[in-house]
Amino acid sequence: MERTLVLLKPDCVQRRLMGRVISRFEEKGLNIIAMKMLKVTPDLAKQHYAEHVTKPFYPGLEKFITASPIVAMVVEGLEAIRVVREMLGATSGLKAAAGTIRGDYSSSRQMNLVHASDGPEAAAREIGLYFRPAEILPYEPTLMPWLKAGDEK
Ligand code: CMP
Repeated sequence: MERTLVLLKPDCVQRRLMGRVISRFEEKGLNIIAMKMLKVTPDLAKQHYAEHVTKPFYPGLEKFITASPIVAMVVEGLEAIRVVREMLGATSGLKAAAGTIRGDYSSSRQMNLVHASDGPEAAAREIGLYFRPAEILPYEPTLMPWLKAGDEK
């Protein structure tokens, strides 16, 4: 099982798309094992987006991500990091394929609704930025026998 950090960004919350996006992860069979609403501070934004801080779009990205509450989640499942990234689609909502979350709901490079970790190291680092270990509550869904075969690891 893999874990990934998912953020429902300010545009997702403001546009009342939280339920639809969360439903897509649930319907896929992924398990949400931690969730909270918070406001990202400029300091947290700089830590989260450390690799983008020097990019020309960073000031606008920080203003956007700190403007309004977000929802942070830890999502668990087989190959969850890749599976969730593919469900989101390309970074820009203008390029994301129809059928993906961004492809269906975003028409922006910046306001792309959802963030998800891009690899195992990023996932571990980002989960640690948003959640204390005690806030992560893994559980076995009772319908697990109907989500995957017992020998699928
Ligand atoms: P995310 O997947 O959270 O990772 C970095 C974020 O920066 C990205 O989603 C977008 O919100 C934003 N971003 C990436 N490229 C651009 C761009 N060219 N212009 C504006 N914002 C961008």
